[in-house]
Amino acid sequence: MPFITTTEAGVPIQGPTATLLYDDWYPALRTDQLRPNKLTTAMLLDIPLVLGRRSDGRVFAMRDSCPHRGIPLSVGWFDGKHVACKYHGWEFEPCGGQCALIPSLSSFDHLDATRIFATAYPCEERDGHTWVYIPAAGTGRKGESAERRRPVPELAKFGPRYRTAFLTAGLPCNVDHGIIGLMDPAHGPFVHQAWWWRTRGSIRQKTKRFEPIPEGFRMSAHAPSGNSAPYKLLGVYGQPIETTIDFTLPNRRTEVIRCGDKWFSSLTTVTPVTASTCRIDVIAAWNVFYHVPLVTPIAKFFGAKFVRQDQVTMIQQAEGLRHNPSLMLIDDADKPAKWYFALKQARLDAAATGGAPRHPMDGPVELHWRS
Ligand code: FES
Ligand SMILES: [Fe+2]
Repeated sequence: MPFITTTEAGVPIQGPTATLLYDDWYPALRTDQLRPNKLTTAMLLDIPLVLGRRSDGRVFAMRDSCPHRGIPLSVGWFDGKHVACKYHGWEFEPCGGQCALIPSLSSFDHLDATRIFATAYPCEERDGHTWVYIPAAGTGRKGESAERRRPVPELAKFGPRYRTAFLTAGLPCNVDHGIIGLMDPAHGPFVHQAWWWRTRGSIRQKTKRFEPIPEGFRMSAHAPSGNSAPYKLLGVYGQPIETTIDFTLPNRRTEVIRCGDKWFSSLTTVTPVTASTCRIDVIAAWNVFYHVPLVTPIAKFFGAKFVRQDQVTMIQQAEGLRHNPSLMLIDDADKPAKWYFALKQARLDAAATGGAPRHPMDGPVELHWRS
């Protein structure tokens, strides 16, 4: 899928950039993209990465740059234990980045190769995502100590048996626009018009209750909108349906739908690839219709259509944003977007002053909009 739209001349569209949040976990790629003894590249927050899986199973992410002369490590070799640079053959242990060998050293040299480190980032595998912790610049070789790191994000599951799906799409706009799009309640009836979802004519007034949660906000548990088909499907179980949607910094929307012992859970992230582009990833798990054949391909088909509608809209939006228009956020439909910007600023301020982030909400609020 296209990450970057291009002008007629083939020049990538460079839209406005966003301030990036460091000291947190971001999904770099799917673990099934990692092959034995192979190196794979990805880009996160404008940082080129080289990723792989050691022969003992551990995943790793290094800056794709040799500390000797800067050639990408990804053009070198990986034997399951060490990453060897193509230029002068220096070898690195990839989880910690420690240099293990400098082939040119002779018996006359006193340089201790093990005191040299390539940049290695904390890297963990969860739900098929390779999560990479990107520390703020200047916070040391591996960022904060492991204890001070925020926990690795994980998709909520409510039992041992479930099906899963994954979707991804590159978006040619900066992460702020991607996130606003993610939490925007008013675009649904226009962007996602389809017989199986909802139509413009089904717009009705909604009232939703929101409450503050640490570094985010929750759309409190409620019966989901009666005018969308996926929720209607759950009605076949004849039990009350309840859904809870959380947004938390830096980029995560989680949704849990429960209906008796049936559940559906998703984690959507909008990750900065560069300061002006981002990528949306959706992972989902459910035990709804567990025994119905073809549920996974059908769910993927509709999910992919849905994400594609957002992607197409944002590609079109990027054309407009290229000219740096002034924009507006209106109440109440854009209130979640306002909270997002306030939460983000609070984290940036707290990082600068060393204090605790100030939450923009002082208690539960009701918002009203039509969608
Ligand atoms: S540039 Fe990598 S070993 Fe010299
Ligand atoms: Fe959407």
